[in-house]
Amino acid sequence: MLAPLQGLTNRATRALFIDWVRPDVVFTEFMRVSSVGRKHLSRNDLKEAASTNGKIPLVAQLVGNSGEALVTAASNAETAGALHINLNLGCPYGRTASGASGGAMLKYPDLLAKMIPALRQVISGSFSIKLRAGYNDPEQIFTLLPLFAEAEVDFLIIHPRTVVQKYAGTADHTITKRVVHETTIPVIANGDIRTATEGLRLLEESGAAGLMLGRGAIADPLLFERLRKCNTVEPTETETAFMLHHYLTDLLNRYRELFCGERQILDKVKNVLSFIDMQAFSMQITKMKRVNNIADLTALIEELKFIDE
Ligand SMILES: Cc1cc2nc3c(=O)[nH]c(=O)nc-3n(C[C@H](O)[C@H](O)[C@H](O)COP(=O)(O)O)c2cc1C
Repeated sequence: MLAPLQGLTNRATRALFIDWVRPDVVFTEFMRVSSVGRKHLSRNDLKEAASTNGKIPLVAQLVGNSGEALVTAASNAETAGALHINLNLGCPYGRTASGASGGAMLKYPDLLAKMIPALRQVISGSFSIKLRAGYNDPEQIFTLLPLFAEAEVDFLIIHPRTVVQKYAGTADHTITKRVVHETTIPVIANGDIRTATEGLRLLEESGAAGLMLGRGAIADPLLFERLRKCNTVEPTETETAFMLHHYLTDLLNRYRELFCGERQILDKVKNVLSFIDMQAFSMQITKMKRVNNIADLTALIEELKFIDE
């Protein structure tokens, strides 16, 4: 699965991944559920939740803090055409105007005990939850598993850091393994998967039903392909240069169609560039992040074709 990544996995990025490396499932960026308003989701989000691309399932991810608003939003998203709904209980920066949301909701297990069965009742398609191991206690997730099982949540995605940890340290997948053993709900492992070797080892050792790739896939979409083919050979520099040339050319073309104005297009591409962290290409990426116009960016992308080991 391609992870939901705010500011990155917009419609154009998802389409690029679908056309190139075909993840099994893709997610929208999180959609803020407002506690005010009639639909609780913006018109744009409702449209986005219902969009499809080929035959790859799209999961609409909701983040919010009012049980009632989330239930209405989920129902509205389904009415608009969404087939799969996910609840975000992981985002460490999840404050909305109306209070804590995302990972901060793990501070309120009593609220979750009401909210999750209510969501299950209203969602007729698949209902999944993406969460951290806990708010500040990595063992908290084990106390929530009976609630998820009783509510018949379809699958869980676990990023085994705590919310307060944000992105510090490493994802502790011994927790993922223990969760897999303690619940009958399919578990998708997420967090710090950067190579096919790491992903395949995690699948085998944890017994997880699948993997979700975030930053590693944004840095190198072909990670999906290597995992699918169980190819643990890391790409050479020449192969990486070709991958980056193809990726950035395609991304730029798609962003030019989706976004308006040179400034916005460049900002969006630079956001992706900031996740491309291969040491061997740091000079080229730094130069690309400094450009002020699309012509200069295109010229730098073209230079990637001539890199040889
Ligand atoms: C820039 C950025 C944006 C993110 N946006 C979301 C989001 O919208 N919804 C969500 O559930 N998680 C979000 N996450 C968390 C990722 O989906 C994922 O759980 C996390 O990055 C760990 O996986 P990774 O190590 O493969 O990146 C975001 C992470 C990053 C770095």
